Amino acid sequence: MENLEKERPDITLEKATIDDAEAYIALEKSLGETKTYATITEKDEAIEEINKNNIFFIKNEGEVVGHIAYEMKESGHAYISSLVITPKYQGRGLAKQALRQVLEKLKDIEKIDLITHPENIKALAIYKSFGFQMGDRIENYFGDGEPRIKLALIKK
Ligand SMILES: CC(C)(COP(=O)(O)OP(=O)(O)OC[C@H]1O[C@@H](n2cnc3c(N)ncnc32)[C@H](O)[C@@H]1OP(=O)(O)O)[C@@H](O)C(=O)NCCC(=O)NCCS
Repeated sequence: MENLEKERPDITLEKATIDDAEAYIALEKSLGETKTYATITEKDEAIEEINKNNIFFIKNEGEVVGHIAYEMKESGHAYISSLVITPKYQGRGLAKQALRQVLEKLKDIEKIDLITHPENIKALAIYKSFGFQMGDRIENYFGDGEPRIKLALIKK
């Protein structure tokens, strides 16, 4: 019984639309300034992200607690473009649950990749726990002087 409780997800994923741009920005702003994650704080940029990617709000007991997104590249390749949990809800396993649900949606996709900051210890731990392998490090990735590292999950 205890194990069943543990495996039941506490979150649902809800597709974002451009009407959600302000809510998206609010989540990004809640993270504050950090060198390990480049936040999106302008409405135009948020709308562009929502139009380009499949962005899902992560909901816990009806409340929006984060977002996760992916972009379909060429056939057989998806790129995970965001994973955010607002600070108040971090450390409860919600990011892992959200990633598990997205990976389930992408279960037939052979290659799933993403980038993160090499000092983003939590993000790296999460991705590695799902089998992502570290790839190349790219300096000054977004032009702000900070590096990023590529990670990929390749299914054979
Ligand atoms: C990265 C982020 C999404 C994690 O969200 P979260 O809900 O706190 O993550 P979870 O609770 O699901 O998982 C935390 C995992 O991080 C790891 N972790 C947590 N603290 C850690 C630490 N100090 N050192 C190493 N690993 C740590 C553990 O593996 C833990 O999983 P476990 O408890 O099952 O072992 C969240 O911190 C965030 O939004 N950060 C800002 C945005 C960001 O950097 N996003 C990633 C972009 S690639």
